[in-house]
Amino acid sequence: MLAILSMAGCDWMPGKPTEADKPVIKTTITNSHELWMSYCSGCHGADGRWGPARPMNDPLYLAMADREYLIRIVRDGVDGSLMPAFGMPKGGPMTDEQIDDLVDGMIEHWSNPVAVKGMELPPLAAAPGDASRGQAVFKNYCAQCHGDDGRGGSAGSVVNDSYLALVSDQALRSTILCGRLDLGMPNYTGHVGGQHSAARKDLPPLSNRQISDVVAWLISHRVEFPGQPYPNTNTLDDPTQSAAVTTTE
Ligand code: HEC
Ligand code: HEC
Repeated sequence: MLAILSMAGCDWMPGKPTEADKPVIKTTITNSHELWMSYCSGCHGADGRWGPARPMNDPLYLAMADREYLIRIVRDGVDGSLMPAFGMPKGGPMTDEQIDDLVDGMIEHWSNPVAVKGMELPPLAAAPGDASRGQAVFKNYCAQCHGDDGRGGSAGSVVNDSYLALVSDQALRSTILCGRLDLGMPNYTGHVGGQHSAARKDLPPLSNRQISDVVAWLISHRVEFPGQPYPNTNTLDDPTQSAAVTTTE
């Protein structure tokens, strides 16, 4: 009772963030490197590569994603994904000027028109195509590394329902177009880091339609309740048993 009384009248509650916990919003920074390190590096990598989210330090990607597109994504984020909105109107920490500076810096430092010269670039964005045709394309172009059914081979599963629930259609398309040059996933022409991947050696570049079809096949694996079955809560009370997770695989 005393404790409750002593808390009344003051603003303190257990777990309530204090002034010191508030995010620091540094609206005066205009240096693109500092902006990148503060806001992007944790997910897209300190050098724009080797992060959990796709590389931005990728000339192929920057040849396909124009300045307006980059600005829009940084400002508004990607709904239903882990890409946050950084624009102030959406509750983010960055001014419009900072977003412009950051995107200009990314383009200046990481794009390289010479590296993509002469390439016929498919559009970055397009609607998904036909899933059954996509399955056949997947067998030819992807199964060597991701397994015939997409559940994983030398590279991981690309049909895992939790994964598919966390990524947008565009993220899948961007991956098929540009690969993951940091992780060894070839781009639509079959190249990774300038080398033609052995797994794709005798195959022509993926066409725009084939890319849309593979995206359609991947997203056809989305499920209504991703991540199920849930942990078996009956075992949670029993200290001798760990919270066993029953899986179907
Ligand atoms: C919390 C992690 C996180 C942070 C921080 C983050 N991103 Fe992202 N970003 C992602 C994820 C995840 C995606 C893929 C979203 C999806 O599913 O489409 C993404 C997507 C993007 C895309 C679109 C990629 C495409 O497929 O076309 C751009 C551009 C981008 N981020 C730039 C940035 C920039 C610039 C910053 C810093 C201002 C930043 N991101 C900060 C996680 C993050
Ligand atoms: C030469 C082997 C190889 C081939 C061929 C290949 N991939 Fe990958 N892929 C990889 C590797 C390596 C990774 C990253 C591995 C990891 O993180 O487990 C990856 C990652 C991915 C991811 C996840 C990327 C992310 O960051 O979220 C997707 C989606 C994907 N591949 C789809 C495909 C599709 C579709 C094809 C066929 C068009 C394909 N891959 C062909 C090796 C390959």
